[in-house]
Amino acid sequence: MLPIEVLLHVARILCALTVVTSISLVTHQRMLDRKMKKFWPGKNVILTGCSSGIGREMALMLADLGANVVLVARRGGLLEKVAQECRDRIKARGHSTKVVPVQADQGVAEDCERIVQTCISTFGGVDVLALDAAAQMYAYYEDHPDPIKTAREIMEVNYFGALRLFHLSLGSLKARHGTLLQVSSLAGKAGTPYTTFYAASKAALSALYDALRFECEGKINFCVAYPGFIATAAALRHQGEDRIGEAMHPLVCARKCLETAAAGYDDRYLPLVGKLLLPLKHFLPSVFKAGVRSRMPSREQHKRVEALWLARHPETQ
Ligand SMILES: NC(=O)c1ccc[n+]([C@@H]2O[C@H](COP(=O)([O-])OP(=O)(O)OC[C@H]3O[C@@H](n4cnc5c(N)ncnc54)[C@H](OP(=O)(O)O)[C@@H]3O)[C@@H](O)[C@H]2O)c1
Repeated sequence: MLPIEVLLHVARILCALTVVTSISLVTHQRMLDRKMKKFWPGKNVILTGCSSGIGREMALMLADLGANVVLVARRGGLLEKVAQECRDRIKARGHSTKVVPVQADQGVAEDCERIVQTCISTFGGVDVLALDAAAQMYAYYEDHPDPIKTAREIMEVNYFGALRLFHLSLGSLKARHGTLLQVSSLAGKAGTPYTTFYAASKAALSALYDALRFECEGKINFCVAYPGFIATAAALRHQGEDRIGEAMHPLVCARKCLETAAAGYDDRYLPLVGKLLLPLKHFLPSVFKAGVRSRMPSREQHKRVEALWLARHPETQ
């Protein structure tokens, strides 16, 4: 066979693969769109962490989709703004659903009771517990003045807060064949520098839901989304705004998180390449570590990145 014929064969195979992949991606997305339209309308949802970032986009999308939502965050002013935007969207779409803002801290036991009680008394029960709120951190272990104290504070919000809300909603979720949707992080699957306790809190949640998935089989779905780098203020502050091109848009991430629950996926990696890279951690650990190192700024670089962010966004001090 002449070299040109070989090249033509390869080109044909590549074309066929591209067509098949494109068709399956489009078909898959259409299936997810149908599931979103079927799953969310009329659902009673508790959504924590929706005053900014991914949670804010999820709240607006839920309003569009016709869900009743208890919106939770600590910053009351921002939360009320999001609630008003949701009400405007509900009205524009002609839905008869409602949003109720609850200013609360996921790390405080009494606040968790108030959140679940509000959903049950206002809407009659909890169909979806969507946990997006998280205490975040970006510092080396040794740079924390009191690492144990910081670790406890992070676990209190990310792990115990999530567990408490689940515990308080359990009866309702079971009775209504509900869903727990956790916005986790790739850091929970592979800890990276600067994220020690945060990564540990997300890893603890993964193990918790893996076990609960068996115990509550057929009664409650546990759906976990693992975002990588998403272009929210919280992430750009540390990664640098010049890296925005590498990040997923928060709106895209929010939609994919809601799709995760609608499709009943156990785990979903955002983007998918995160899932493809994780096996390297086990099979080629030195390649994995080199990859992580190459993407992480040094402590000096990080100081400069954060100083630049604060100079550009003094309101986020
Ligand atoms: N952006 C990324 O690259 C990325 C990557 C992986 C995973 N994630 C995950 O995505 C989720 C959202 O992150 P984001 O980037 O959108 O950050 P964000 O804009 O800071 O959102 C975090 C939300 O959680 C709320 N929150 C924080 N602590 C809380 C508490 N104790 N009680 C109640 N609400 C609390 C914040 O509101 P208040 O301050 O008003 O309470 C805010 O609405 C987090 O779970 C994060 O771990 C993000």
